[in-house]
Amino acid sequence: MPKNISLTRYLVEQQRVDGSIPAQLRLLLEVVARACKSISMAVNKGALGGVLGSADSENVQGEVQKKLDIISNEVLIEANEWGGHLAAMASEEMDSIHLVPSRYPQGEYLLLFDPLDGSSNIDVNVSIGTIFSVLRKPDDHPGVQEADFLQAGAKQVAAGYCVYGPSTTLVLTVGGGVAMFTLDREQGSFVLTQENVQIPADTKEFAINMSNMRHWDAPVKRYVDECLAGKEGPRGKDFNMRWIASMVADVHRILTRGGIFMYPWDKREPEKAGKLRLMYEANPMAWLVEQAGGAATNGKQRILDLQPTKLHERVAVFLGSKNEVERVTAYHTGG
Ligand code: AHG
Ligand code: MN
Ligand code: MN
Repeated sequence: MPKNISLTRYLVEQQRVDGSIPAQLRLLLEVVARACKSISMAVNKGALGGVLGSADSENVQGEVQKKLDIISNEVLIEANEWGGHLAAMASEEMDSIHLVPSRYPQGEYLLLFDPLDGSSNIDVNVSIGTIFSVLRKPDDHPGVQEADFLQAGAKQVAAGYCVYGPSTTLVLTVGGGVAMFTLDREQGSFVLTQENVQIPADTKEFAINMSNMRHWDAPVKRYVDECLAGKEGPRGKDFNMRWIASMVADVHRILTRGGIFMYPWDKREPEKAGKLRLMYEANPMAWLVEQAGGAATNGKQRILDLQPTKLHERVAVFLGSKNEVERVTAYHTGG
């Protein structure tokens, strides 16, 4: 891999090779990357920047917002309003869609994001991130409505995340594989550090919040019990477990060395399909994982095929190493 390829150069060259990144989309991705850079700076300042702690407000899903949830949301909105590349945005932290103000030109894309993923880790200095998904605005009518966002994940034209960990890493797909960029703080730019990311099909590592075990459905319990039984059990090998409680960080580990991530439906709130959000978390992560040779389902169906019915819809998530995701899916479907 040639040295010192910036995100800008990568996007320009990718466009030349397969035409997958038109100018508006390139601008959009660069703007999102710039916003992630600002969020990274705010995250890094920590207590010195006065960004830790709660904000005395709740989001549409009834979750207490952290200051950094709100700051990150504002950074993404302000960065993306004026460039002419977007028609509207939707965020985990906003009740309804945010239209690009009429004083700015309207673009052809829709941007969805989880501005700050892993909020419970902010105050304890553990990796957190931003997740984003890009759709094309349907062109059969003027203006934008919430219904325009309700497109299956398979329709995404770009997706990615930025993890704010010991280093800040931006991970991106536009449909031609997955690339990783590390923020060079001296240069102030994202530099390509891995191309063609591949998730091994097999793994000995699983990620799930074990404290919910008593609430799980039988297929999930069976899968985890078999992992826990180790060498002496039906799987014939010992498994390791990791749970960071930031989906971004858990998925980043899986893209780096394999594994399976599960946030299943459980009996705590049976009316909810799961905890994670389809449009802001599951869809972008599912596409990245598939682009890296892995799989992603809700236990029964491919996540990318699910037709969303509302903006803040929740979903059960099983993603990562292909053979493991297929196994736990088969335990659900009886296949
Ligand atoms: P968010 O901070 O955006 O609300 O997302 C948190 C999510 C996800 O990142 C993580 O995998 C999961 O919640 C952790 O949930 P538990 O605290 O139930 O383990
Ligand atoms: Mn999240
Ligand atoms: Mn969030």
